[in-house]
Amino acid sequence: MEFNTKAVAPESIKADCLAVGFFEDLGMTATARRIDRISGGAIRAAAASGDMKGKRGSIIVLRGLAGVACSRVAVLGLGKSTDFGDKAYSDAVTATLRGCGAGVNAVAFASTDWKVAGRTAQWNARALVLAARASAFRSDELKSKASTAIDDDRNAKQRITVLADKRDRALETGLQQGQAIANGLELTKRLGNLPGNVCTPDFLAAQARRLGREWGLKVQVFDRRQVAALGMGSFLSVTNGSVQPPRFIVLRYQGAGGAGFAAPVALVGKGITFDSGGISLKPGSAMDEMKYDMCGAGTVLGTLRAVAELKLPINVVGVIPACENLPSGSATKPGDIVTSMSGQTIEVLNTDAEGRLVLCDALTYVQRFKPAAIVDIATLTGACVVALGNVHTGLFSTDDALAGELLSAASAAGDTAWRMPVDEEYQDQLKSNFADMANIGLPGNAGAVTAACFLARYVRGQSWAHLDIAGTAWRGGAAKGATGRPVPLLTEFLIKRAG
Ligand code: BES
Ligand code: MN
Ligand code: ZN
Repeated sequence: MEFNTKAVAPESIKADCLAVGFFEDLGMTATARRIDRISGGAIRAAAASGDMKGKRGSIIVLRGLAGVACSRVAVLGLGKSTDFGDKAYSDAVTATLRGCGAGVNAVAFASTDWKVAGRTAQWNARALVLAARASAFRSDELKSKASTAIDDDRNAKQRITVLADKRDRALETGLQQGQAIANGLELTKRLGNLPGNVCTPDFLAAQARRLGREWGLKVQVFDRRQVAALGMGSFLSVTNGSVQPPRFIVLRYQGAGGAGFAAPVALVGKGITFDSGGISLKPGSAMDEMKYDMCGAGTVLGTLRAVAELKLPINVVGVIPACENLPSGSATKPGDIVTSMSGQTIEVLNTDAEGRLVLCDALTYVQRFKPAAIVDIATLTGACVVALGNVHTGLFSTDDALAGELLSAASAAGDTAWRMPVDEEYQDQLKSNFADMANIGLPGNAGAVTAACFLARYVRGQSWAHLDIAGTAWRGGAAKGATGRPVPLLTEFLIKRAG
């Protein structure tokens, strides 16, 4: 898919279809009125006949309008102008691409006519790209007939133009950002949707290396022996039951000026390529969805891809502890005590609380880069899904300023988060009689918070935030698939940080 913006009169734009808006309360938008006038009332006639009432999601395609270069004009119902928000905007883009006709390859949007209140022109352009790309995205690489679905080839052929009255830098920047974010998001979705037998720890490492080659990132991959030499006894305890070797992946993007790799933002992503629960085995229903337990890792890779494409002037380090969590004769058992890289010992009361066990060592490791901020991203707890459902990502932070930055990036990107507590009071739940801490709190008692409290013990004195994406990284049911969240949130956060 290609995107551009053109400052030409709408009647003279050369495309297969020109999309204009029609509000339920206000009727035709400015471009629609202009096309209507030039064509001698074609849109008014459609409205008078009852074919177009402006209902949200409705669309009519008029052909061969006099005085209009485009052979098709799609009139889009936008609903009530007073209800026209982020979702309505994306839905309008999707409805156009679905409804404008199978033979259409190039679409021109008169979308600067239908602005979302409070959103900038740049936001509108970015949102248009994201909606268009999302509607074309398919995870079909493992279907035997990939040709039955929309593939990259079809995407590459599609040209989308945003009409403007004058040359507009904000629109151009928005289109560019939209494409970089969509590229990152689609990498994250693709990796998430790949099954555990394909997307193994070593596969993730290969993807990281490839990203490094393509975008000039420095990539290091540590194997079991190197991870053991670093003292990551907690991470390694999770891999014990699996025959897939673990990988500890480090990626560095150097975008800031100046010598050395100064004060990077660190992104740490949970990379459990399949979480069966281990000896504390999960129940069977929907266990397949635990292939998504590496979505934090996927988010790190997708965000780094977006950041590199945008050439942001900032340093970013991505760290991914990747392994499987499986039961076997060599698996970690409930009650086992392990020693983390920080030296703190952990009583593993439940082998299904493995995310924190891999993350704590990664959080310790990443501090060697003297990061300006550390953000970890993890499908960490079912309790977070209970608390926030599929709407907001759980945000936990001991740093109010960092939490504020992340929350405002989240709402700017339309990839929302909700702040949850990490107060010391909850730490009591992690007491162990035999080790420095247990890996779980009390059953049914603030499970998302105690998981965050566990992580907090490994980042004392750091500017740190934790994003629990258990409810937001993928959707189950008929529309099963990775969402690519929170790539938009993190990319927006890094765009702002880069200044
Ligand atoms: N990966 C899961 C969390 C999860 C579960 C995400 C369901 C999305 C849907 C994590 O490793 C896990 O199993 N957590 C346990 C923790 C518990 C044993 C304290 C959980 O949430 O049940
Ligand atoms: Mn688990
Ligand atoms: Zn897990």
